Amino acid sequence: MSNVILVTGGSGLVGKALQHVIETEPVGSRFGKQPNETWIFATSADGDLRDPAQTLKLFEKYKPTHVIHLAALVGGLFKNMKYKLTFLRDNILINDNVLHVSHTQKTTKLISCLSTCVFPDKVEYPLDEDKIHSGPPHESNFGYAHAKRMVDVQNHAYKEEFGCNFTSAIPTNIFGPYDNYDLEDAHVIPALVHKCYLAKKNGTPFIVSGTGKPLRQFIFSWDLAKLFIWMLREYDDVEPIILSVGEDEEVSIKEVTDAIVKAVGFEGEYSFDTSRADGQFRKPASNKKLLERIGGFQFTPFEQALDIIVKWFVENYDTARTGKKA
Ligand SMILES: NC(=O)c1ccc[n+]([C@@H]2O[C@H](COP(=O)([O-])OP(=O)(O)OC[C@H]3O[C@@H](n4cnc5c(N)ncnc54)[C@H](OP(=O)(O)O)[C@@H]3O)[C@@H](O)[C@H]2O)c1
Repeated sequence: MSNVILVTGGSGLVGKALQHVIETEPVGSRFGKQPNETWIFATSADGDLRDPAQTLKLFEKYKPTHVIHLAALVGGLFKNMKYKLTFLRDNILINDNVLHVSHTQKTTKLISCLSTCVFPDKVEYPLDEDKIHSGPPHESNFGYAHAKRMVDVQNHAYKEEFGCNFTSAIPTNIFGPYDNYDLEDAHVIPALVHKCYLAKKNGTPFIVSGTGKPLRQFIFSWDLAKLFIWMLREYDDVEPIILSVGEDEEVSIKEVTDAIVKAVGFEGEYSFDTSRADGQFRKPASNKKLLERIGGFQFTPFEQALDIIVKWFVENYDTARTGKKA
């Protein structure tokens, strides 16, 4: 039987990582393309998923048997705070259309992508899969988090009413090639890589927003892509699953900055702008369920992954999403 795997958000950070893994892992291997598979990486140019008719047209064109749903309105802390309704509404529309059409078009399996932002602000750490709905999310990403939480609610409803094989993944902070490296709107790693690159190139000050003290778990996009491929083949449970490095792999923003300075080869001094907001201090997530289910996984060492993205960023500076064309 031939399978068609449609990846929504195929041009984004995670979509491009999936494409990389599918193209580079040996055919037939655990994370490689299977001989009976066709992979489609859709972008917003193939259809605006906020629109039901365009979503249906996309599914009618490719007739996917499986969907990895990554498309979302994604942004950093400041954009999330400024555009709460847009983040709520666009993501609700995108998700509702993709889930509904996956059901009506009889897709066999759908994996959607949540985020650790969905978890309550006041919660006992570490985060685990049972705590998603146990309190309001952090105020800074209220819109995005509520839209994402609804995917889990809908997955359960589709399963109960129609027996659909829908599930969701919860990655921690992702970084990789093809990320958004915009200086104003990027997540912390791509923003720091870009700033550090400019500081080295132009001899400008390298200023890190915040205190450098918050702790985060980061997952390299190529590792995350492999975990999505594992889910596609081996994880058939409606309950979400956290895709992350272990809790003992938490790093401070200062440690991240030091590693970026090394990877970029920046030899000047840097400073912290403590007038800028830090966001949540820490939100460690447990990857216990993942490790139990997958039976072990080799994550790329953090510094090795940083070297890969810095090299990619330098080589692709003219085409990377840096905000300069916006
Ligand atoms: N980045 C992170 O650190 C992080 C962490 C946890 C979870 N996630 C989740 O991971 C998933 C992938 O994120 P990402 O970082 O890869 O995002 P990204 O780089 O911002 O890419 C977003 C993707 O969604 C597509 N898209 C956006 N709006 C669309 C629309 N209305 N119709 C059709 N396609 C649309 C974009 O297409 P165009 O390129 O054509 O605009 C692009 O392919 C998302 O669900 C996100 O919530 C991300």
